[in-house]
Amino acid sequence: MRHTITVNLHERSYPIYVGNDMLSGFAPTLQRHGIPRQLVVITDSHIAPHYLQPLLKHLRHFDFDASAIVVPPGEQQKSLRRATSIFTTLLERGIGRKSAVLALGGGVVGDLSGFIAATYHRGITLVQMPTTLLSQVDSAVGGKTAVNHPLGKNMIGAFYQPSLVWADMHCLRTLPPREVTCGLGEIVKYGVIADAEFFAYLESHLDRALVLDEKIILHIQSVCCGIKARLVSEDERETGRRVILNYGHTVGHALEAAGAFRVVKHGEGVLVGMVAETYIARELGMISGDVHDRIVKLIQRIPIRARFHALKPADILRAMSRDKKTVSGKKRFVLPTNIGNVTVVEMVEEKLIRTSLKHTWQTLQ
Ligand SMILES: NC(=O)c1ccc[n+]([C@@H]2O[C@H](COP(=O)([O-])OP(=O)(O)OC[C@H]3O[C@@H](n4cnc5c(N)ncnc54)[C@H](O)[C@@H]3O)[C@@H](O)[C@H]2O)c1
Ligand SMILES: [Zn+2]
Repeated sequence: MRHTITVNLHERSYPIYVGNDMLSGFAPTLQRHGIPRQLVVITDSHIAPHYLQPLLKHLRHFDFDASAIVVPPGEQQKSLRRATSIFTTLLERGIGRKSAVLALGGGVVGDLSGFIAATYHRGITLVQMPTTLLSQVDSAVGGKTAVNHPLGKNMIGAFYQPSLVWADMHCLRTLPPREVTCGLGEIVKYGVIADAEFFAYLESHLDRALVLDEKIILHIQSVCCGIKARLVSEDERETGRRVILNYGHTVGHALEAAGAFRVVKHGEGVLVGMVAETYIARELGMISGDVHDRIVKLIQRIPIRARFHALKPADILRAMSRDKKTVSGKKRFVLPTNIGNVTVVEMVEEKLIRTSLKHTWQTLQ
């Protein structure tokens, strides 16, 4: 069971393989794509006990010179400090220009490893092997790599595309339920921003998605990666249309930051953020009450475990303003105009943002 989706970027085009129990085909695929023999697997200590040894064994069996670097789990690892320690290890191991980084993990490992691959020796080959639902439907695709700075998330990084993405849902069997919720944040986003039919599919199949039913997840992976591949092909560096991927993220990022990245995880921020931003769209007369209710009802069916109710609106608004200053000088919202369609709005009154938070707190009791 395997599908291939292509990200079309001329000479930097690459495939995304999605499916189940795909390990036996991995090394032959790397060879077919001319991935260097010297490989460094970067992963975290939650993932390593489950998947690292079988992967290294498989790679070595096919003559790859594979070694591993295991970092602690968590958003804090997306730091220049961690990157420096990885650079040191790579140099000490004599890893040269003709080598590859293989990111085995969720978005944290993916973003950090991508940053390493983009900068080590001015760029070495990158392969993404996402292991969370969120990374399999979103973060492993598209080439955004970054580490965080104390003054802002993802502030230091590069656009750097992988040579291939290998999303094996076999890895999802060990995923904690809270991470399934996070993945669903980005998944619902895809329905609202680009695909009404997919949104309706989620309405009918959400319960099976929540228990990671293989057939449903395969369809979800294919659709989400397909939408992201198309948006990235049209606008690799987010100077235009790709920005729509940020629906739910203006409020979502502010929630993450207001909780110092310890209260709300990225995907949870997106779920809560979509409720607030959908409310804003309704109040601005951009969508009907019916459209608003459909989006909110779908999100209400997803268990959100983050204790976001404890966050203070003032802190959230402050985080949003800081984002505004560092990023573009304007508070930018991606708001729905229907299911399957969004538009960018730059003028939203602070009072309305405040009300939207209050409404969201009540909606997601
Ligand atoms: N580059 C992009 O385009 C992009 C897009 C969206 C999000 N992101 C970034 O992605 C990050 C969030 O990624 P995430 O949600 O995957 O979180 P994550 O990488 O922190 O993984 C979540 C948790 O699950 C564990 N884990 C991962 N795979 C597992 C498995 N198969 N079994 C058991 N445990 C497993 C991890 O150790 C971690 O504790 C954020 O930093 C966010 O900014 C980047
Ligand atoms: Zn996101």
